[in-house]
Amino acid sequence: MKKLAIFASGAGSNAQKIIDHFRNHASVKIALIVTNKPGAGVLNIAVKEGIDTLNIEKERFFRGDAYVPDLQQKGISFIVLAGFLWKVPIALINAFPQAIVNIHPALLPKYGGKGMYGSFVHEAVVNAREKESGITIHYVDEHYDHGDNIFQAKCAVDPGDTPEMVAKKVQKLEHLHFPVVVEKLLLNETP
Ligand code: GAR
Repeated sequence: MKKLAIFASGAGSNAQKIIDHFRNHASVKIALIVTNKPGAGVLNIAVKEGIDTLNIEKERFFRGDAYVPDLQQKGISFIVLAGFLWKVPIALINAFPQAIVNIHPALLPKYGGKGMYGSFVHEAVVNAREKESGITIHYVDEHYDHGDNIFQAKCAVDPGDTPEMVAKKVQKLEHLHFPVVVEKLLLNETP
């Protein structure tokens, strides 16, 4: 059984889709939800689903052991960032080589980096009059929204679209593709 940890700081809609996708899966189990936000919506999902949670704090994450022993003790072999807004420290990356993936709500390398998350991304896309946006799933390195690209999917940004409208289109792509792409990676298939 491969055990996954989902790192999330927000509402957790992507976490929920991943949990749903792997429910009763033959070889994958969502074993842990990790968050840095004590009140995050994703924690309600964890409770409802009966999944263990780990609350992390800055000092230990960035200047301590990055919680690597906790993750190893849980038998985690793969990490999915689903709306996790902290950088990932090198200690964690080294402990999970090519085994940490992130989803970003834009077509990277555009509209990525520090401060580019959630509605800020969609506002920037609309303000720049982009004709398309989408999602990027990528391996995680020590920089924000950086690392080898795994998968992208696009949607149209139509004239008159508001950031909220773009957000809806992008979220639809996230929910559709993220769980399937993660499964393919875990089964060593090309997404
Ligand atoms: C998702 O749209 C994800 O792409 C984004 O946060 C949202 C989390 O939503 N991540 C980033 O912006 C990372 N830079 P959710 O909590 O409903 O899954």
